[in-house]
Amino acid sequence: MASEIRTVGVVGLGAMGAGIAQLCVEAGVETVGREVTAELGEKARDRIAHFLTRKVEKGQLGQDARDAAVARVALTTDLADLAGCDLVIEAIVEELVPKQELFAELERICRPDTVLATNTSALSVTEIASATSSPERVVGMHFFNPAPLMPLVEIVRAERSADAAFDAAYAFGEKLGKHPIRCHDTPGFVVNRVLIPLLNDCVRVLDEARVTVEDLDAGMKHGAGWPMGPCELLDLVGIDVHVHASEALWAKLREPRMAAPARLVAMANAGLLGRKSGHGFYTYE
Ligand SMILES: NC(=O)c1ccc[n+]([C@@H]2O[C@H](COP(=O)([O-])OP(=O)(O)OC[C@H]3O[C@@H](n4cnc5c(N)ncnc54)[C@H](O)[C@@H]3O)[C@@H](O)[C@H]2O)c1
Repeated sequence: MASEIRTVGVVGLGAMGAGIAQLCVEAGVETVGREVTAELGEKARDRIAHFLTRKVEKGQLGQDARDAAVARVALTTDLADLAGCDLVIEAIVEELVPKQELFAELERICRPDTVLATNTSALSVTEIASATSSPERVVGMHFFNPAPLMPLVEIVRAERSADAAFDAAYAFGEKLGKHPIRCHDTPGFVVNRVLIPLLNDCVRVLDEARVTVEDLDAGMKHGAGWPMGPCELLDLVGIDVHVHASEALWAKLREPRMAAPARLVAMANAGLLGRKSGHGFYTYE
């Protein structure tokens, strides 16, 4: 595997991919971002430039460093432009078939020693890797949203990942200033495997204990030391995103606690998605 990661490809510059690309350029790594249209790519680069400007305004980054970081973002719509990358991080739509097709294509385009990483939250890294004939170079790098701010990255070992690819991904997580943790490829990996059923329990308790949303949040903050209440957290994550993740875990593990509570499904169907829609457990301006 590539011994040093000098150039990174990021495929899909949405919420996660743009954040990951920002981390890479801030760490001094040349980064090629691939989107489906040039307009989407430009929008992502504008978002990266905007966040880096805010860091300058807050005194967290020098103007020259900001300009150099923005200049390290190259954009393309052509996957072939990722041929020279030492590592490619995939952050496209959370569906198995498009990810498998992408990895098969990346295998054809990239050097044999290029590490191929997926940022999937709920799909099997092993199944994504199985679409290639070199699954040893495929690993999971699961960043948390928003990637530039959340310190954790889960480095996921698929069934056939080679130590060299796994170690390279771990070292790169450190280079990005993250706190990487190692785990195997199991549904939900580490944090979501614990957090998703826990948040579902919190929502079930709302009805069982007839506690108000505000009191439940206060209970978990002041009695369990949570930095924010479960309902605040669900509004931040997005009710639809959480329901989708719960359904994925339920489908794989068949544990009742994984299934989304009816109350959350109803909220998702009604467009009460949390902060992003202005209404969830709370109302936002
Ligand atoms: N949003 C989160 O909280 C979160 C957290 C951790 C991991 N993830 C995972 O990260 C991945 C991306 O999620 P997101 O929230 O950034 O989604 P998003 O919808 O914001 O972004 C996906 C982007 O990929 C682009 N895209 C789709 N197909 C493409 C292709 N073939 N080539 C290039 N670009 C393509 C889309 O145009 C879009 O901009 C998913 O696998 C998701 O499960 C999401």
